[in-house]
Amino acid sequence: MNDRTHPALLDVARIRADFPILGQKIRGKDLVFLDSAASAQKPRAVIAAMTAAMETQYANVHRGLHWMSERTTEAYEAARDAAAALMGAPDRHEIVFVRNSTEALNLVAHSYGRHILRPGQAVVISAMEHHSNIVPWQMLRDERGIELRVAPITDAGELDMEAFEALLEDGKVGLVSITHMSNVLGTYTPAARIARIAHAHGAKVMFDGSQAIVHRAVDVRAIDADFYAWTGHKLYGPTGIGVLWARRELLEAMPPFLGGGEMISSVTYEKSTWAAVPHKFEAGTPAILEGIGLKAAIDYIQAIGYPAIAAHEAALTEHALSRLSAIEGVRILGAAQDRGGVVSFVLDRAHAHDVATLLDRFGIAVRAGHHCAEPLMHRFGLESTARASFGVYTTTREIDALADALVRVREFFA
Ligand code: ALA
Repeated sequence: MNDRTHPALLDVARIRADFPILGQKIRGKDLVFLDSAASAQKPRAVIAAMTAAMETQYANVHRGLHWMSERTTEAYEAARDAAAALMGAPDRHEIVFVRNSTEALNLVAHSYGRHILRPGQAVVISAMEHHSNIVPWQMLRDERGIELRVAPITDAGELDMEAFEALLEDGKVGLVSITHMSNVLGTYTPAARIARIAHAHGAKVMFDGSQAIVHRAVDVRAIDADFYAWTGHKLYGPTGIGVLWARRELLEAMPPFLGGGEMISSVTYEKSTWAAVPHKFEAGTPAILEGIGLKAAIDYIQAIGYPAIAAHEAALTEHALSRLSAIEGVRILGAAQDRGGVVSFVLDRAHAHDVATLLDRFGIAVRAGHHCAEPLMHRFGLESTARASFGVYTTTREIDALADALVRVREFFA
């Protein structure tokens, strides 16, 4: 297999040339970066957009009447339009900028969970959630008497749909909050089906799309979601900016999360009133440069096109599964039918941290640990795994380098 898995669709060599960091050598070896699920590298377009804004067109947004502030506001607000278009959101006012998916989930747990859900109601999550989709609901449970239910997964790492539906049958569930793609197993969850079941039982549904939106097109209307969260830095954009999309009527009904400047309509010592959505949820000076960088990242992804990205990453994942599973002593976590570009694995007799450290000697960067998903590790009887994750710039040659290095690592432990 060569590095142009789908030459008509995606030219990896050209894409790699857009990412200045990838040309480097690490301790004399070509960098093999297989940790994009933790945070992706940034194309020149993103770096240039942020630099240009700082060099030519920067002021605070939404406040100034001067030229510079107006131009910066336009550039920043263009990110809202781009984010809405990216995810099929019908209304740009439904895009709330947050720091990351964790903040989006906390916002919903606070403003929807504490103010719209009632004690005695329940929230359903799944057994393959990241800590950011567990801890905010535990805090809600402990403060507000809202039950937290966990839908089990199968040994293949797929949501057990019958068990999931059974959890909703008593009609007490007010909200389902589930990952759209597991950061550990790579599993894509059947979002439209989950939403249909949730709605049939009177519950709203939120998806953590931090991983999902990187690899495939997301359309919140086609899924029929109520809330959808993702983060910029995994989508080749900057850190410090993420998106919460929610139906406008829900955002209107929810009280603010953080108070301060920008989110008010008027303030007296007696009473404050709130700005219209989405600004009601955006207190303080926002991540202006990061918004501008995010717009450039979205444009970059749209120019490549999700069909090409998805096809490229599906081919890479298949290649990785076939190469790694052929290595004696390697166990791959999860075997979902529908999966994205993330492969977690363990090596017999070796701790995942040691595996990652030795792979690093070959210039190969993977993540090792519990991947902020401790309960999921325990579900598989593990404390940690190593994880290789892929992006638009990943090549089959890099996956071969990982497989070849793993054979050497295994020999070391044998
Ligand atoms: N959630 C990120 C990961 O999976 C940090 O690595």
